[in-house]
Amino acid sequence: MKIEELIKKLSLEEKAALCTGASAWTTTPIERLGVPVMTVSDGPHGVRRVADPASFSSESMPATCFPTASCTASTWDVDLIQAMGEAIAEECIALKVDVVLGPGANMKRTPLCGRNFEYFSEDPYLAGQMAASFIRGVQSKGIGTSLKHYATNSQETRRLNISAEMDERTLREIYLPAYETAVKQAKPWTVMCAYNKLNGTYCSAHHKLLVEILKDEWGFEGLVVSDWGAVHDRVASLKGGLDLEMPGPRDRRVKAVVEAVRTGRLDESVLDESVRRILEIVFKASEIAKGGSFDAAAHHTLARRLAAEGMVLLKNNGILPLKDPKRIAVIGRAAKAPYYQGGGSSHINPTRLDIPLDELEKLAGNARITYSEGYPSDGAFDQALIDEAVNNARLADVAVLYLALPEAKESEGYDRPDLDMTTQQVALIKAVTEVQQNTVVVLNNGAPVVMSEWIDAPAAVLEAWMMGQAGGGAIADVLFGKVNPCGKLAETFPLRLADTPAYINFPGSKNEVHYGEGIFIGYRYYDAKMVPVLFPFGYGLSYTTFGYANPNVSASTFRDVDGLTVTVDITNTGNVAGKEVVQFYVHDHKSELVRPPKELKGFAKVELQPGETKTVSIQLDFRSFAYYHPDYKRWITENGAFDILIGASSTDIRCIQTVNLQTSLDLPSLLNRESTMRDWLEDKRGKRVLDPLMGKINTQYRARYGGSETESLGIDIMGFFTDLPLPDLFQFLDDGAPETPEQTVAALLAQVNGDGN
Ligand code: BGC
Repeated sequence: MKIEELIKKLSLEEKAALCTGASAWTTTPIERLGVPVMTVSDGPHGVRRVADPASFSSESMPATCFPTASCTASTWDVDLIQAMGEAIAEECIALKVDVVLGPGANMKRTPLCGRNFEYFSEDPYLAGQMAASFIRGVQSKGIGTSLKHYATNSQETRRLNISAEMDERTLREIYLPAYETAVKQAKPWTVMCAYNKLNGTYCSAHHKLLVEILKDEWGFEGLVVSDWGAVHDRVASLKGGLDLEMPGPRDRRVKAVVEAVRTGRLDESVLDESVRRILEIVFKASEIAKGGSFDAAAHHTLARRLAAEGMVLLKNNGILPLKDPKRIAVIGRAAKAPYYQGGGSSHINPTRLDIPLDELEKLAGNARITYSEGYPSDGAFDQALIDEAVNNARLADVAVLYLALPEAKESEGYDRPDLDMTTQQVALIKAVTEVQQNTVVVLNNGAPVVMSEWIDAPAAVLEAWMMGQAGGGAIADVLFGKVNPCGKLAETFPLRLADTPAYINFPGSKNEVHYGEGIFIGYRYYDAKMVPVLFPFGYGLSYTTFGYANPNVSASTFRDVDGLTVTVDITNTGNVAGKEVVQFYVHDHKSELVRPPKELKGFAKVELQPGETKTVSIQLDFRSFAYYHPDYKRWITENGAFDILIGASSTDIRCIQTVNLQTSLDLPSLLNRESTMRDWLEDKRGKRVLDPLMGKINTQYRARYGGSETESLGIDIMGFFTDLPLPDLFQFLDDGAPETPEQTVAALLAQVNGDGN
């Protein structure tokens, strides 16, 4: 039956019921008309299928726990993320799940957000590419995704009621583009709204976010689902564009909707539109038969690959890869009790779990391995554990420290108090490195930790993230060079918490958090303020080296709508095969509104044998050069020069190509009664109108002030005039003309807007 016909057959009560879940994880079926039930499960880095759909907390069925998003984003590998999506979809099919609740595309505004481990990046372009790849992978198998948490949910503190307060440009340039890319490129079946408010309105009832931007502007065709419990007023949320409320059942909500339609407070066509969207997806979900099994071994192998490629080698004096050490001191609880995922709704019951120590032993040949716990589980201080570790380290050729943040330090539901490792862990690193210069530190955490106190001491540092169930093996792969590390940071590691962009605006008051740093988050901030960092965005080491040569652009002068092709030759200049993540940033020489010094607009990952060269190519389009102008209420480009910066990280730029953009836009004039002389002269139409008067203005100024002000006040009076609104300027120059300054300016404005004579 066609959806439209079906809607006509549904009673008002049935339609209202369809718009609210039937249980914690299922939608409402309408048996008499053959409307099936749809089952959803968390996400995002695996399937958390609870055995009993009525329950939130019952044990979930075994599924592959892939590395979390901090790690997968650091692969910068869209194919690998897509493969992970495909694997997750296969597990959904086996576990009878129709829609997986992920990916999360929220921006990492501050490293303190407790849930950053589930999000990709501080950069909207990278996060958008990652999210789109994940969605493409899952949906290619006929399983749906839920792009979440839309939008501006960048902190856990008071996440259910805080209002994220920001200007339009910040929203458009930083907090929305990852969603926009994912929606336009990968068409997720569902989008999950955020809990919080945006500029005073709950995202669950935010008409501008859900209807005007998501559905109308971006063309989203799927359904909008609430985050679990995010709806406060069901009728208001329907009006605001929220189609499906979860979880259910919520009889009161259904009744409220029925009542609102009956009393005329809710137009039935609004309800019908949500019902249509829900039915489309529910029927689409039922097309793929569910059940069977999945290849757990193959998925474990994939999880290991993802983990190994997402790990970031932060420091290496040459100790890595390990060269057949005879005695290895393994130190740290995380070697035996792996920290491989974060707390909260994404918590997966893994199909199996690699123990880092066991995996190291498998690759260590005949090396003698000792183990010491190093630090207690509870964050307390225990000198005896340090002493034992130091003894083992002293007797070894190399010490490997496996250090994980205490679980309670990062989780859904609350933010991190600081970026510190525990006092014991820092003391342990210091003590071990004092007796053993060949010390390798392996870190497990979902977001940056500060390292200034100890980073100089160890020979190598590997950021292994929340590495998923196969991460233990992946660490061993990297340590022994079975995998050449190729991960690069998808977020900046700051030197200190106080250096971070949102430091003085986080986490806000009881009701509001002001995004005072605006568009300057992550490297956009550190670049602009020239704040030194521990490790920059895009950084990561390899066991080989890469040369960049022959940068080229398809045209040195181009129209924004035509875009550009940029190429560069990458050569593996070392002795082992490796992969390089090549990054393309754009720098605008001059713009009307302030812009970040550089912004990522493309990247490519390339695999090279020793001595091999490949040409890497990316496309830049209109949006690569545009910024959102709040006065024009649109993305604009401006004529002028841009640098294309090609680099190995955001601070390691290897080649620069300068190009000239010609804008295709003919923007209306924004001049008004308050515009200053400078505004007029900078506006192309304004200049045309004002230029002929400049001679007269100069003469009047000289006649009236004769240059004496410049001497007596010590100012450049013309400079002073430049920033006066035009009517005020004419007031100062009063030449006794019959018309008032306001009338003069009104006539000039009419000329600018083409309705003058
Ligand atoms: C989380 C979502 C999750 C949902 C269902 C919410 O608390 O914010 O990410 O998908 O619960 O578990």
